[in-house]
Amino acid sequence: MKRFNTTAVCIPSKHYMVDLSERVKEIKKLVDAGKFFTINRARQYGKTTTITALAKALKDQYVVISTSFEGIGDAGFEDEASFVKEFCRLLRREFRREERIPKDVKDEVDALFQNANERTKLGDLFDIFLDMLSFNFNRDKEQGVHPVQVGDKLLYEGTV
Ligand SMILES: Nc1ncnc2c1ncn2[C@@H]1O[C@H](COP(=O)(O)OP(=O)(O)O)[C@@H](O)[C@H]1O
Ligand SMILES: [Mg+2]
Repeated sequence: MKRFNTTAVCIPSKHYMVDLSERVKEIKKLVDAGKFFTINRARQYGKTTTITALAKALKDQYVVISTSFEGIGDAGFEDEASFVKEFCRLLRREFRREERIPKDVKDEVDALFQNANERTKLGDLFDIFLDMLSFNFNRDKEQGVHPVQVGDKLLYEGTV
């Protein structure tokens, strides 16, 4: 039986809810267009409920990595290396549930988590993000070099 929920995230199958499907559809348009967005509201406005519904709407078409900085304790913000290690910990937890992330990327995150030391930099993390992006970008593309006309210029796009 459905109940009214006044604490934490609302789950459509369990709770009476305001229908968010139109709102989620609007946000999905931004994602489909490759745009960034932020949801910026005070507490208890329904941010987590909205973002959870969005993740559900995207998950068949996209690899969704859903994580929260609430899971990083104070020590994780003390210096760059600690932050990178904590961020890797959050990513590993998400990666365990996602088969579509290539093993190479999972291994890179594991290695960075395990070997993090005082010389570890944010750049090490960004290098992994670049690998993830190139994986997504190339997923539906033909391999090889293709000419692309941009205005009056002929450019070559390489996909490996
Ligand atoms: N779609 C909705 N329909 C009904 N109540 C909602 C809905 N979204 C949020 N709420 C109410 O708001 C409360 C806070 O939602 P939550 O998503 O945790 O907000 P936030 O992340 O902005 O703090 C929920 O416990 C619920 O009572
Ligand atoms: Mg919240």
